[in-house]
Amino acid sequence: MNVKILAIESSCDETAASVVENGRRICSNVINSQIDIHKLYGGVVPEIASRRHIENINPVIRLALKEAGYTLEDMDAVAVTYGPGLVGALLVGVATAKALAFSAGKPLIAVNHIEGHISANFPENPDLEPPFAALVVSGGHTYLANVPEYGCYDIIGKTRDDAAGEAFDKVARALDLGYPGGPKIDALAKEGNPEAIDFPRASIADAPMDFSFSGLKSAVLNYMNSRKLKGEAINKADIAASFQAAVTDAICSRAMLMCEERNIKKLAMAGGVAANSALRKQIENECKKRGIAFYCPSFIMCTDNAAMIGAAAYHKYMKKDFAGYDLNAVPGLGLTGGKKN
Ligand code: KG4
Ligand code: ZN
Repeated sequence: MNVKILAIESSCDETAASVVENGRRICSNVINSQIDIHKLYGGVVPEIASRRHIENINPVIRLALKEAGYTLEDMDAVAVTYGPGLVGALLVGVATAKALAFSAGKPLIAVNHIEGHISANFPENPDLEPPFAALVVSGGHTYLANVPEYGCYDIIGKTRDDAAGEAFDKVARALDLGYPGGPKIDALAKEGNPEAIDFPRASIADAPMDFSFSGLKSAVLNYMNSRKLKGEAINKADIAASFQAAVTDAICSRAMLMCEERNIKKLAMAGGVAANSALRKQIENECKKRGIAFYCPSFIMCTDNAAMIGAAAYHKYMKKDFAGYDLNAVPGLGLTGGKKN
């Protein structure tokens, strides 16, 4: 059987569509990014995002089908991100997917964006199959989870406050680096000393695999303010490198603790922050030392795209887990579907 899925993603500031075969072969992956507009405002403006999605979604879908060499009639299903994300942005994708599925008489598949990020690992790693552990480090979410089977996520750790990407974006704003902050800090950190400033690596006593990044963000702001008050110069590259080291240490130490405590031999990283060069290197090295197979999507598959939604949707298609035409956007959706939640 050759299952062809048209996938649509519009949860934040990328309008994306893709055709994926059997959850592993990407036939097309069209991404229309709105970053150039939102960076004028220092972050995503929800109303502008929704309007841009409305303008872009049909041409993006048309192009995704054309590049794949298919028509809508050739598809076995239409999949769409229904949460988490910005409600107005999600609704554009959801409404479009419902209209296409209804008009073409195809099943509709609702995909959790976070599950999509994890599934971004499948097309590029044909050998990756459950059971494995997932480390999700995105703009809005930070999770450690066990994946015993496709679509099943047992949460082992999560953030108590800010997500990893949120911390990058907030610190980048304080440093006047612009939006999105992650790639800017990643680049600037290469020119700085990661040991210049000893920023805190917070740990939570009763939950060693949970994360907390808001204290680190405050520590960076306090450091900058106190230097300014004393009239001392600020070395932005050192701050970026030291902050980034604190984040990567916090993420890496928890991921390794999870792998050791649970005897995990396969770790897949996912989400926008997985594009961070220091984090990729550190986790790869630590996994190598422990004989853990490490998986991480290519850069373009780390940040938002629709191919990852098509990869996740395939396993729902196989289970006939279809959505109704009453599907709605769920902006606050978490990573669910585990045996323990
Ligand atoms: O994972 P994502 O699509 O967001 C959510 O789904 O929530 O990715 C966006 C996040 C932003 O916070 C951005 O700053 C971060 O990923 N990011 C990075 C890098 N590239 C993107 N963070 C650190 N280093 C990078 N190279
Ligand atoms: Zn995302």
